[in-house]
Amino acid sequence: MEYFNFASCHAISSCWLQNRVGLKYVTSFILAGSLGQLGSGLARLFRMRYGKDNVFMSDIRKPTRDITSKGPYIFADVLDYKCLQKIIVTHRIDWIVHFSALLSAVAEANVALAMRVNIEGTHNVMELANQYGLRVFIPSTIGAFGPESPRNPTPNITIQRPKTIYGVSKVHTELLGEYYNHKYGLDFRCLRFPGVLSSDTHPGGGTTDYAIQIFHDALKEGRYTCYLGPNTRLPMMHIDDCLRSVVEFMEREPESLPVRTYNVAGASFTPDELAAEIRKTIPHFEINYRPDHRQAIADSWPEVLDDSAARNDWSWRPEYNTKRMASSMLNDLRPVYQQSHGIESDVMTKQQLTVAA
Ligand SMILES: NC(=O)c1ccc[n+]([C@@H]2O[C@H](COP(=O)([O-])OP(=O)(O)OC[C@H]3O[C@@H](n4cnc5c(N)ncnc54)[C@H](O)[C@@H]3O)[C@@H](O)[C@H]2O)c1
Repeated sequence: MEYFNFASCHAISSCWLQNRVGLKYVTSFILAGSLGQLGSGLARLFRMRYGKDNVFMSDIRKPTRDITSKGPYIFADVLDYKCLQKIIVTHRIDWIVHFSALLSAVAEANVALAMRVNIEGTHNVMELANQYGLRVFIPSTIGAFGPESPRNPTPNITIQRPKTIYGVSKVHTELLGEYYNHKYGLDFRCLRFPGVLSSDTHPGGGTTDYAIQIFHDALKEGRYTCYLGPNTRLPMMHIDDCLRSVVEFMEREPESLPVRTYNVAGASFTPDELAAEIRKTIPHFEINYRPDHRQAIADSWPEVLDDSAARNDWSWRPEYNTKRMASSMLNDLRPVYQQSHGIESDVMTKQQLTVAA
C-alpha cells in the first residue's frame, strides 16, 4: 500500500517529532475508535513513524490477534471518562486521535446513540485533553455541510446547516474544538474528509460507502446496484492520501496553522463516472440504480470540496485522482476474489489490470 512507501521514505524517529513540535519527551499517541475503516491504517503508519510502543490503538471492540501482535491495544469507551483518564495518565499520552463515531447512515438510524458517542464522547476527549495538556486530532466530514452551503465548490469557511445528526455532531466538534483552542489554547486540529476509499478494511456505514462496495461487487459479480442515482457527485479521497493528510497536518507547528479546521479532498465523481472507470478494466461491468434514503443525505452534501486553504497553509496535495483511485482499488482487491472465487470470465488478470490502469 502507498502509505507504507510514504512512511518508509520519510522514516523518522520520535526525536525528530520532538524537535519539530518542540516536545521534550517521547510522544505517545492514543487512537480512539481505531478498529474502524481509518484507524488500523493510521496505526500502522504512526507506528512506522513514531515507534510501535508509542502508539496505542483502542476501541470497544475485541481486536483480532493480528492487531494485538502489532502493538499495544487497550479497551477504551469514549463515553467512560474515568477509563480514558486512567489511560491518559498511566501511559503518559500526549496526543489523542479521536476516530470513535457513528457514521452518517448508521447515526441516522440511531440518533440517541449517535448523540452520545459523537457529542458526549467528544466532550470527554476535549475536557481530558485540556486538563492533561494533550493535543487533539478529530476528523470532521463533508457531512458537516448542508443544503444551504455552496456545493460546487464548498469553501473552507461557509454556511453549515447540516440536516443529519452526524453532520450536526461534527459541526459541534469543529466549534467546540475551536472554542477550546481560543479560550484555553488547546491544540485542536480537525480535517474535513470526503468519502474515503480503502480496500483492506470495511466502511463503517457512511453515505459514500457505495464507492467501496462497487469494487467488491464488480470483481465478485460483474455488476452492482447503487443506492445513489447515477449523477450524484460527491468528493472522495484514497486512504493513502487521507492518512498522509493526517500525518502532514499533525506534524505542522501549531503557530503555522491560521485555522484549526480544514477541508481536504482528492477528486469528485458520480457513480456513473466511477462505473465508466471500472469498465476500462472490467468491460462487462453493469451498474443499476435503486436510490434509497441515503440519496437525500448525498443531495445535501458538497459536490466538490475546496481545499485551497489546506494547500496554501500547509502545502496539502492529493496524489490520487479518480483513475488512480479506481485502479488502486481493483489491483488491491482482485487477489482477494481470485483466491475465494477463482478468475471470472469477465475479470482480467493482474497483468491486464496493471496495463489497463
Ligand atoms: N470513512 C470515511 O469515509 C470518513 C469520511 C469522513 C470522516 N470520517 C471520520 O473519520 C472517523 C473514523 O471513521 P471510520 O470510517 O474509521 O469509522 P468506523 O465506523 O469504521 O469506525 C469507528 C469506530 O468507532 C468505534 N466506536 C464506536 N463507539 C465507540 C465508543 N463508545 N468508544 C470507543 N470507540 C467507539 C467503533 O467500534 C468503530 O471501530 C470518524 O470520526 C468519521 O466521522 C470518516
